[in-house]
Amino acid sequence: MRALVTGCAGFIGSHLVERLLEEGYHIVGIDCFTDYYSEDMKRKNMEGFKNNENFEFIEKDILNMNLMPVLEGVDYVFHLAAQPGVRASWGKNFEVYTRNNILATQRLLEACKGLEIKRFVFASSSSVYGDSKELPLKESLYPKPLSPYGVTKLAAENLCVLYYKNYGIPVVSLRYFTVYGPRQRPDMAFHKFIKAVLEEKAITIYGDGNQTRDFTYVSDAVNATVLGMKGEPGEIYNIGGGSRISVNKAIEVIEELTGKKAKIKYEPFQKGDMRDTYADISKAEKGLGYKPEIDINTGLKKQTEYVRNLRV
Ligand code: NAD
Ligand code: UGA
Repeated sequence: MRALVTGCAGFIGSHLVERLLEEGYHIVGIDCFTDYYSEDMKRKNMEGFKNNENFEFIEKDILNMNLMPVLEGVDYVFHLAAQPGVRASWGKNFEVYTRNNILATQRLLEACKGLEIKRFVFASSSSVYGDSKELPLKESLYPKPLSPYGVTKLAAENLCVLYYKNYGIPVVSLRYFTVYGPRQRPDMAFHKFIKAVLEEKAITIYGDGNQTRDFTYVSDAVNATVLGMKGEPGEIYNIGGGSRISVNKAIEVIEELTGKKAKIKYEPFQKGDMRDTYADISKAEKGLGYKPEIDINTGLKKQTEYVRNLRV
């Protein structure tokens, strides 16, 4: 079986490639090392598999490459390449979000038309929901994103549904909820917090720290993505980690794990940030057989080890 993984040098994509190689897939990976964070870090993400005989790397931008030869013989597409990050998506940056999240997705979907693809698994996001009075968040809720990033992910998700309905591309969208663990992007909270606490530098909390997230450990997100291969075409599934906690509580766990006290600065709540996320995962449980396995203490312990090793 042959699978295409876009964004294969990124945080989640690199873990997914490792998992699919273990399962015996031949992987074609695409990544163009966008400059959102260091190329060096992304190259390191690929170290464990870049020389694997079943891995083929294409260092190209989805927006201006010839996708047809790459898609030849591909059974599964995992589309993770994107411009992530909620808070950075305002202003001039929006162009990068529209290009890498909307246009790139549309280009890839166009190229898949008429091919014998078994599933096209799309990495969507909890940020499509926006603030809701109703928690946990269910897929049936009307999505009202709060950030330009969320708007682009929702647009891409809608494109996926259109290409399923009109061209029969069997798309499955997974709404990941704040993924963490080794290789987490350096702009994300846990990476920044652990690094700063270890280095005895200040961390910044946006707002009062009582905002909550349904944090999802990366191996759970990867399990869900693999299970996405048997998802119902045209459907959307929440992928949460079952570890909903506040930012303040997460910092306490990091303090315990590092044996160091965090030096905390407060800044105003950021535009685009949801107050709370909490996934109703019953649809993924029933439809995909998904069950998160890693609790926040275990997951943060693994991420702390990773960040500790990055420093030496
Ligand atoms: P990441 O930035 O680490 O990985 C994305 C990769 O895509 C990068 O390596 C980048 O170079 C590549 N890329 C971007 N645009 C490209 C293009 N046009 N052509 C080729 N390569 C391109 O991000 P991540 O955190 O691993 O996120 C992966 C996916 O999951 C994204 O679609 C993101 O929106 C989604 N997601 C992530 C989270 C999370 O908590 N990390 C949560 C919800 C959804
Ligand atoms: C994350 C990813 O960055 C997005 O790409 C993804 O789409 C989204 O999850 C999702 O679930 O859909 P976010 O929840 O903002 O977005 O993830 P973090 O950067 O880890 O932030 C978690 C919380 O910590 C937020 O409330 C944020 O405001 C807070 N935070 C973050 C701080 O208080 N200080 C910081 O320095 C960073």
